Amino acid sequence: MHSTDDIWRQLVRASVDRRHPWRVVALCTQGAQGPSARNVILRKVRPEDRRLVFYTDARTLKLREIAECDRVALLLWDPHHRQQLRVSGRAFTEADDEVVNRHWASVPEAAQRDYGTAAPPGTPLTSGDAGNLDFNLAMARHHFVVLNAEVAEMELLQLDRLQHQRSRHAWSEASGRWEAEALVP
Ligand SMILES: Cc1cc2nc3c(=O)[nH]c(=O)nc-3n(C[C@H](O)[C@H](O)[C@H](O)COP(=O)(O)O)c2cc1C
Repeated sequence: MHSTDDIWRQLVRASVDRRHPWRVVALCTQGAQGPSARNVILRKVRPEDRRLVFYTDARTLKLREIAECDRVALLLWDPHHRQQLRVSGRAFTEADDEVVNRHWASVPEAAQRDYGTAAPPGTPLTSGDAGNLDFNLAMARHHFVVLNAEVAEMELLQLDRLQHQRSRHAWSEASGRWEAEALVP
């Protein structure tokens, strides 16, 4: 069975290796109209406080949904190692401006522009209104949000021609540690 530490090590690797398939994560939120999923990039991983870190725009739907319900699911797939990781936890935006500024400083300028659109992401583009695509770099930092997911449970499925392996890794508040068990795949 994969240990919980192994999984965290892989997550850390994914956050620093641009080619690691776990770097692209499906983030699922609970909306008023039902669940919604979208891809986000895994920017940082902090096993010590069970945290996965993402960047997004303050004006996006996902943040409105998280404000209503902070429970999120995350889905990762590594086709090379044939590993699926399902994660659930609680999402919250980073409140410490100094921390956000440090992340912002690491975002290349070309990517910083993504946060500077005058109109919020998802605004319909009406013909003849190219103004919706204007951007203002000064506002970009203001829209930039560091989104944390505090992991409560992970489930790894290792596909294998001879015998698939499945394990659940749940954080126990009572004992302050991870509890892992193997499951029938
Ligand atoms: C490979 C890939 C990576 C993406 N990375 C991010 C990201 O790190 N942060 C983000 O907010 N959106 C990212 N997006 C765009 C989102 O999938 C989504 O379209 C956008 O955030 C709006 O989602 P929402 O309206 O549900 O909030 C990425 C899309 C793709 C295809």
